[in-house]
Amino acid sequence: MAKYMTAGIISLNLLRAIFITIAILAMLATEVSADFYPVQTGTINLNRPHDYSPSKDCANCHLYLYQQFEHSMHAKAFTNPVFQNQLYDVLLPQMKENPNARHKVGKCLACHSPTIYMTKNQQLPARHRMEYGAPGVTCDFCHTMISYSGKSPENANYVTSPGPIKYGPFKYSSDWHRKYSPFHTSSKICGVCHEGSNSHGVQTHTTYSEWLTSSWPKKGVECQDCHMSATGRLIDGKAIFERGIIAAARYISPPERKKLFSHRFPGTNVLSQLEGAVKLKIYNLSREIEPGDTIFLGISLDNSEAGHSMPTGAIELRQAWLDVRVSLPQSGQVWQLKAERISDESWDTAGMSVSNTLSLDNEITPGSRLYRAVLVDSKGRQTFNNWQAVSKVFDNRLKAGEIRREMFRFTVPADALGNLDVEVKLYYLRYPPAFVTRLGMKPAKNILVAKESKIIKINY
Ligand code: HEC
Ligand code: HEC
Ligand code: HEC
Ligand code: HEC
Ligand code: HEC
Repeated sequence: MAKYMTAGIISLNLLRAIFITIAILAMLATEVSADFYPVQTGTINLNRPHDYSPSKDCANCHLYLYQQFEHSMHAKAFTNPVFQNQLYDVLLPQMKENPNARHKVGKCLACHSPTIYMTKNQQLPARHRMEYGAPGVTCDFCHTMISYSGKSPENANYVTSPGPIKYGPFKYSSDWHRKYSPFHTSSKICGVCHEGSNSHGVQTHTTYSEWLTSSWPKKGVECQDCHMSATGRLIDGKAIFERGIIAAARYISPPERKKLFSHRFPGTNVLSQLEGAVKLKIYNLSREIEPGDTIFLGISLDNSEAGHSMPTGAIELRQAWLDVRVSLPQSGQVWQLKAERISDESWDTAGMSVSNTLSLDNEITPGSRLYRAVLVDSKGRQTFNNWQAVSKVFDNRLKAGEIRREMFRFTVPADALGNLDVEVKLYYLRYPPAFVTRLGMKPAKNILVAKESKIIKINY
């Protein structure tokens, strides 16, 4: 012991020198290859890393649910390359310049990887540390969430109780690791993440409040009835569920459940969820049409399939548009009808403003009617970075249950031959091409949501 102490006293200066060198090296190392970036997240009760089980652990017994879940956007909420590129390539450099922006990264994690947020000591793992696991919204996170704090669910204001008890929807009790939780049967559990605003107070996620203010809650239809049913939609106004056992393993034989909630969580990344989500109708508002006449076409868009606005979700990115064409098949002529601008800034008409052409890359035929929300930054420019938005300057998305009417005008050529074909298509685009190409990724595909056509007789 004495020997050790003497040695310690003698080498104090040496130790100090070594310590300083290590400190400098450590600082350099953080600059060059930080493993974890600190993020400030406000005051919350943080859990320890091992408090949450990885979703794979649940697969041992809940294999069927796990197989559905692993393809869902919840499983990919953190690894999703669009999210990662925006977080690491756009937001993180901003945070390094301005440490006050750290809380913004923390906010992203709170919804996109709540278990990292709750356990990794408020640190964002560097990309090369993904071997730590890159959990999105995990099984264990959702099933140990018990409530929310504050007046209404929003901005990841969840209250959690990680541990052996898993909270679920079934009322009758058994010896298993479970407890009945009415919270899980309500849209509120979705609202904690599907409702949110940024640090400028701009509401960037409004799916929950769109649903809340629609007629769906009065009809008792929750998010789960569509997004956790067998079909992802209502069939004739009703939610259809699978039935079966929810867990299976050796020596385990739980009862068959009449209602089995699907864990696919289909959204606009799933074609079947989008196809036919809006119903189109064409009305010929003019009678007795002759060559040379100007006709008026009414088009209605019925958004009664979705429980919220269309589009919803990441509203700074999503858009839908209406493509209206008339043709005279006999002479092979086709016209694209242009929508009339309604808003001064032309946010509702493709290709009508500088910002439009920049963000849409002319992907959308100019003149098409757009349905979207537009968020702008402090310089008044349209932004696709939700944290930079200082206000929402435009929003003409189709509301839940709304039937929107549009009118288009067309002058039949004086030398027209045959009848007139009208074709109307509604498309959906997940992100503007300029946004993804800037992140070094391939543009998303235009998805055809609905299509309708009509033949209009011309009197010769
Ligand atoms: C986004 C949150 C969320 C995630 C992630 C999630 N669940 Fe669920 N789970 C729910 C909700 C909500 C219900 C109940 C739905 C209702 O009652 O309307 C449920 C129901 C269940 C049930 C009851 C049986 C059933 O399917 O009806 C089990 C068991 C279950 N989940 C296990 C899991 C497992 C295992 C995983 C991961 C493979 C998982 N959950 C991932 C939210 C989630
Ligand atoms: C050793 C097998 C086993 C493992 C591993 C397991 N569970 Fe379970 N779990 C069960 C059984 C059995 C039930 C009861 C089934 C029943 O009553 O229908 C159950 C019930 C549940 C329920 C309750 C559903 C309800 O409302 O009654 C939830 C939620 C749940 N498990 C979540 C999870 C999660 C999350 C994980 C991973 C962290 C997990 N389980 C891991 C076997 C398991
Ligand atoms: C802990 C936060 C959290 C909770 C709770 C949560 N979600 Fe999500 N959800 C997300 C995030 C984050 C994404 C987006 C992932 C991505 O696109 O990178 C998402 C994606 C989705 C999608 C897919 C959207 C698409 O574009 O395809 C659907 C559908 C969905 N959630 C429904 C629900 C429902 C229904 C509930 C309630 C039962 C729920 N979520 C609860 C965070 C959450
Ligand atoms: C009546 C059925 C229904 C209900 C209720 C419902 N949805 Fe949807 N949801 C849909 C359909 C259909 C789509 C695809 C078309 C669309 O985007 O509107 C969709 C799309 C989504 C998307 C993807 C949006 C995008 O553009 O990326 C999310 C996220 C989502 N729903 C979450 C929720 C949440 C959270 C709730 C509850 C607050 C909810 N939904 C209630 C039917 C429903
Ligand atoms: C209040 C919860 C919440 C917060 C905070 C949040 N998100 Fe999200 N984010 C979501 C949900 C829910 C979706 C899915 C909505 C949808 O599918 O349209 C989503 C979708 C996205 C998408 C679209 C992904 C895709 O593939 O279409 C990106 C990109 C994204 N978020 C980035 C971020 C970044 C960066 C931050 C932090 C500055 C952040 N989010 C903060 C809940 C949140």
